[in-house]
Amino acid sequence: MLRTHQCGELRLAHAGETVTLTGWLAKSRDLGGMTFIDLRDRYGITQLVFNMDDNATLCQEARKMGREFVLRATGIVRERSAKNLNIPTGEVEIQVTELEVLNASKTPPFTIEDDTDGGDDLRMKYRYLDLRRNVVRANLEMRHRLSGSIRRYLDAQQFIEVETPVLIKSTPEGARDFIVPSRMNPGEFYALPQSPQTFKQILMVAGFDRYYQVVKCFRDEDLRADRQPEFTQIDCELSFITQEDILNIFEGLVRNLFVEVKNLDLKDFPRMTYAEAMERYGSDKPDTRFGMEFCNFTASTRNCGFVVFDQAEFVGGIVAEGCSEYTRKQVDELTDWVKRPQIGAGGLIYIRYAADGSLKSSVDKFFTPDQLKAFADQANAKPGDLILILAGVETKTRKALNELRLEMGNRLGLRPRDKFSPLWVVDFPLLEWDEENGRYHAMHHPFTSPKTEDFHLIDTDPGNVRANAYDLVINGVEIGGGSIRIHDRALQKQMFTLLGFSDEEAQNQFGFLMNAFEYGAPPHGGIALGFDRLCSIFGGVDSIRDFIAFPKNNSGRDMMIDAPSQVNQAQLQELGIQIK
Ligand code: AMO
Repeated sequence: MLRTHQCGELRLAHAGETVTLTGWLAKSRDLGGMTFIDLRDRYGITQLVFNMDDNATLCQEARKMGREFVLRATGIVRERSAKNLNIPTGEVEIQVTELEVLNASKTPPFTIEDDTDGGDDLRMKYRYLDLRRNVVRANLEMRHRLSGSIRRYLDAQQFIEVETPVLIKSTPEGARDFIVPSRMNPGEFYALPQSPQTFKQILMVAGFDRYYQVVKCFRDEDLRADRQPEFTQIDCELSFITQEDILNIFEGLVRNLFVEVKNLDLKDFPRMTYAEAMERYGSDKPDTRFGMEFCNFTASTRNCGFVVFDQAEFVGGIVAEGCSEYTRKQVDELTDWVKRPQIGAGGLIYIRYAADGSLKSSVDKFFTPDQLKAFADQANAKPGDLILILAGVETKTRKALNELRLEMGNRLGLRPRDKFSPLWVVDFPLLEWDEENGRYHAMHHPFTSPKTEDFHLIDTDPGNVRANAYDLVINGVEIGGGSIRIHDRALQKQMFTLLGFSDEEAQNQFGFLMNAFEYGAPPHGGIALGFDRLCSIFGGVDSIRDFIAFPKNNSGRDMMIDAPSQVNQAQLQELGIQIK
């Protein structure tokens, strides 16, 4: 090997040894008589020292080395006089006797330090330099530890990893597919999998019993901090199990992960039905690190004479504890915040419950102090609190109030990154009404089974049929989702009909699955965890990009390789594709 030790390895105990290190020049300082170089590799930083008095030529040579030069240095480990106890190697330095340049480097376009001066685009373009930064590398090291722990857990539970194809036929998971033209089948296309859903079900029919895969999935959807066009799932499927079994096994997996990686026991995960989550938080992925639950004022404001309340389908509020002293300016600013198009509320009504017990509101004209007190009592507000109320169309208003709750949670510091609040959300509706197209969609996917006790509603009131579907939520982020599947051909066919597929379309798209169901499909179900999201929760960061080695930007571009890109005419011709 070119080195005897790594740059994070040497300690006082090595003093006197002759060693050879290799790495990148992170920083150099020239103090006239002496030159210092911080040499960096994946494992740490070691200080090299060159002394004019000992070896003037070598010292002058060292001064010429630029940032990010790749060096190989041999020398003697010495105790440092000025120790740096902030780094593990800070008690020693290498008195260099030989220096070799393994490769020169251009000056990097940004500083390779924890607090870099490089903007997002620049760092993505030179991602290999960005990845040299400790913080970025540490994220990927953590990702590696998490996947190792997950694999060990699943292995111990007799799951086997099976790879499924990447060139497939589209699976309807709700997003757009990325499609790939087939040269050998002109005019025909593969789709990249949005998930291996149908394959894992087929593996159950094949008797694999417990499958998992750490797998890339592809979805052509609008990007956000927690969404990438290609992302990784921990995808799992099991046979002969109930929903309860699945929740327990995967709660075990996540708890084990927190113990192994964070030394934290999260205790039993609470559960909440979808209906309850929507009622209490206006969201199917509530952040339960803090309370501030919705108070439903709809019934108590009926025919109150205040037209905004009277006309509203829903009137709901939250209590911002200790905020009664918010200035007019602060309240106005919050009002502007809820009125932004992204939130979409018509306005914000407030009731101040002052510390002295007096009540004042933005709707004093319409309510007596006693009525305001009744609202405050209903909301469990205390003197010193501020009640914030939104009114309007139910779904929209609940959504806006959810956003306001999260924003107030941020402002009041109620969402600390080192607190972890997991939650199972269960009993999702089977179907979701699509206003635009005037039809139902499967809320999870078309293979999800309805609850037996709701099945009688399937023709008369399909919107109220609940599914055997569940999501794992941590700190308000949907970490995973799954369901017990339909394993009966007739029921699957009925589902497709309900979702508006003609027999021919169903046969064309899913004939293979329905055929498989005719050969002894076992009862089965599964779940997929969003691995990038899981990593970002562990890292206490909102953006999953920080945990992906080569992520895409918000326009879906890879800035380093500059993709997507045009292809040449000959390639297109071969594929039978014409671009106007
Ligand atoms: P679902 O569509 O809920 O379920 O996806 C599972 C989990 O994958 C993560 N996820 C994403 N992460 C990053 N970027 C994206 N664009 C993205 N989209 C989804 C989320 C989500 O909870 N086949 C089913 C699973 C099953 O039923 O077993 C499925 O894919 O964390």
